[in-house]
Amino acid sequence: MFLTKEEEKLLESPNEGIRKCMEILVAVGEIFGAEKLIEIKSAQISGVSYSNIGEAGLEWLESLDVKVSVDAFLNPAGFDLERWREMGIEESYREKQLRIIKAFERMGVKLTLTCTPYYLVEVKKDDHLAWAESSAVVYANSIIGARTNRESGITALAAAVIGKTPYYGLHVKENRAPTVLVKIKGENFALAGLELGRVLKEGEIPLVEFSRKPSEEELKLFGAALASTSSCSMFHAAKLTPEWRDFETPKEKIEIDEAEFEKCSPDLIAIGCPHVSKQELEKIYELLKKYGKAKRNLWIFTSREIKEQCSDLVRKIEELGGKVFSDTCMVVSPASEKFSCVMVNSGKALEYLPKLRKVNATFASLEDCVRWATLED
Ligand code: F3S
Repeated sequence: MFLTKEEEKLLESPNEGIRKCMEILVAVGEIFGAEKLIEIKSAQISGVSYSNIGEAGLEWLESLDVKVSVDAFLNPAGFDLERWREMGIEESYREKQLRIIKAFERMGVKLTLTCTPYYLVEVKKDDHLAWAESSAVVYANSIIGARTNRESGITALAAAVIGKTPYYGLHVKENRAPTVLVKIKGENFALAGLELGRVLKEGEIPLVEFSRKPSEEELKLFGAALASTSSCSMFHAAKLTPEWRDFETPKEKIEIDEAEFEKCSPDLIAIGCPHVSKQELEKIYELLKKYGKAKRNLWIFTSREIKEQCSDLVRKIEELGGKVFSDTCMVVSPASEKFSCVMVNSGKALEYLPKLRKVNATFASLEDCVRWATLED
């Protein structure tokens, strides 16, 4: 891989952390045959929850003496930084999680603690990024038309420090062409995304024809689900996404139905995977007004910034029995483990809750989730 003189110097830096970050980028670039490094607009770093990275990850982060050189955002952590007690989080767990967050803060990473950084900063078509959270990666590539590979927590951090990423994969326009035409039969696109991820072959990019026009939030849920059952990090939606016309229509065509799921009686209804937008908060409030006060646990997850921007709406939702948490989610927080069945409107959470939190999960539309929350036990 070609390196400029400046980049070569970084490989000899007296700062071990900078040297390591540069070595990581060069190693990845060489594995994937990148010709050079390119500048990025921002990085988004995953691997924040203590439940996911554990003691070894914590110690490694604390040992790094580096600063990020571009905007860098943090994925959700294991609890709401202010309302951790309400989530039933243990003091010892909290202490470790806070050490992780502090280590990132020292490096200059913004403590956004969200998987939806695209609601907080302007990301433009053709911007090069180094984002790690799979749902944010698929959103950025597909819905915004920005360009990012699916980074790991470590490569995203290395890119944030150096301000560059290897030029390969989805950074290169011709690698963004659709390879298969997909017709979605069902009406619930989160479940269709799960199913599509299961049948898609490695490396394929779908051009999707939906059965009706999806909202932006539905596209978000579709992409997050797709990326949870496959390594797919980009889709095109016919007539909707910014690059769908830029390539030839693939010849191979498949039809996709909704994924099936287990049924269980929920003791927690959890909405916000990925974190909810302002529009979704508004919809939840409208639904609570329609069906009445929540009588079961209704947890809603969003970023702290959206929560603060919508403080009035959040107060009204909480008066109607919902709890709006930020900095975390039902999948990365151990708080979900205290429940026997979690109802979600997210294909990604449906897939990950049993695997990562060992808790049963069931699925319903947003409207049915809220309606369920208002029913007596
Ligand atoms: Fe976000 Fe957590 Fe889902 S990080 S995409 S809400 S698993």
